[in-house]
Amino acid sequence: MIYNFDRPVDRRGTNSLKWDLYKGKDIIPLWVADMDFRVSPAIITALQSHVDHGVFGYTLVPDELIDVVIERLATQYEWKIQRDWIVWLPGLVTGINVSCRAVGDTGDEVLTMTPAYPPFLTAPENSSRKLRTVPLVEKPGGWEIDFDLLKRAITPRTRMLLLCSPQNPTGRVFTHDELATLAQICERHDFVICSDEIHCELVLDTDKAHIPTATLSQDVEQRTITLMAPSKTFNIPGLGCSFAVISDKPLRRKFLRAMKGIVPHVNALGYTAALAAYRYSRDWHLAMLDYLRENRDIVERAIEAMPDLSMHHVEATYLAWIDTRQTGMETPVKSFEEAGVGLSDGRPFGAEGFVRLNFGCPRALLEEALQRMRKIMGI
Ligand SMILES: Cc1ncc(COP(=O)(O)O)c(C=O)c1O
Repeated sequence: MIYNFDRPVDRRGTNSLKWDLYKGKDIIPLWVADMDFRVSPAIITALQSHVDHGVFGYTLVPDELIDVVIERLATQYEWKIQRDWIVWLPGLVTGINVSCRAVGDTGDEVLTMTPAYPPFLTAPENSSRKLRTVPLVEKPGGWEIDFDLLKRAITPRTRMLLLCSPQNPTGRVFTHDELATLAQICERHDFVICSDEIHCELVLDTDKAHIPTATLSQDVEQRTITLMAPSKTFNIPGLGCSFAVISDKPLRRKFLRAMKGIVPHVNALGYTAALAAYRYSRDWHLAMLDYLRENRDIVERAIEAMPDLSMHHVEATYLAWIDTRQTGMETPVKSFEEAGVGLSDGRPFGAEGFVRLNFGCPRALLEEALQRMRKIMGI
């Protein structure tokens, strides 16, 4: 089947968070991380049939969805998990916050690397934990973990590492060596690892592969809370269906206890869409990745040609992390908005002077946005 990702879908007037921010304005929204593509036909058919049934009561997780997740992790990553390791969640941000609440005590510390998806920087404090951040360092080849800096940030109260892998916003796919070194540090200091792997099926470089942190060794598996979801890959974040994989029973109990009475059920349509995504949307997924690869290349070439902007190669995700510090712009997001392009501000990611551009959209829209950016950059 041929999927037409070039076809524009008018999202204006649909209460889209991404588009409604600029309601009535000529600003192309390339900020929040959802894509402007219609989902796979399989997801639409499954949702239609669910809607036709007409009853939307409390819903158990379909057995088939559990089977499909287990099969998927086994075939893609040779990760053999058990049914009861999976905890269903209405969102990954929920999972990040529940992890902070479940691990350690008031005043304990959570370590993470910046730039970071903003909820990484707010979740620890939501649970009265202290946040410690360590910057990723910029090398000619891209963003890297500075393990010495990381080790120096550890204190006797550090209890957990919040890891984003693949990394939002830099688009890094961490290598086996990088993950193994991180894991060694966590083992030595007896940390829990909360590994947000929401972007794991959006690896764009064909010579790179996602490695779930928990697959590094049995000990690492036991100390890891893995967070995953079909939401980013299959463009269904509004349907809220995610999951945690926690092999260690006491850790899982703590996690479940922290959720109690606060975290709602996953909604019935979320399960339906997740199952159709994982079971029947492979061709759409592969075609979408091809489309994203070309969009990524277009963005990289365009930014390369704008002398005062720079970015590193995006290995995964549909997000470009752009350095604007050479432009002299005081408020880059505002300047780009004035030029007609809506980007995410780097500040909530812990990186002033950067902006994030979401290239998960039809190519013509992306080209128009880049043209507007060229204009304001004077080329
Ligand atoms: C790393 C990461 N985690 C979590 C989320 C959001 O998860 P959810 O919408 O399921 O809460 C995002 C969304 O962009 C993300 O990039």
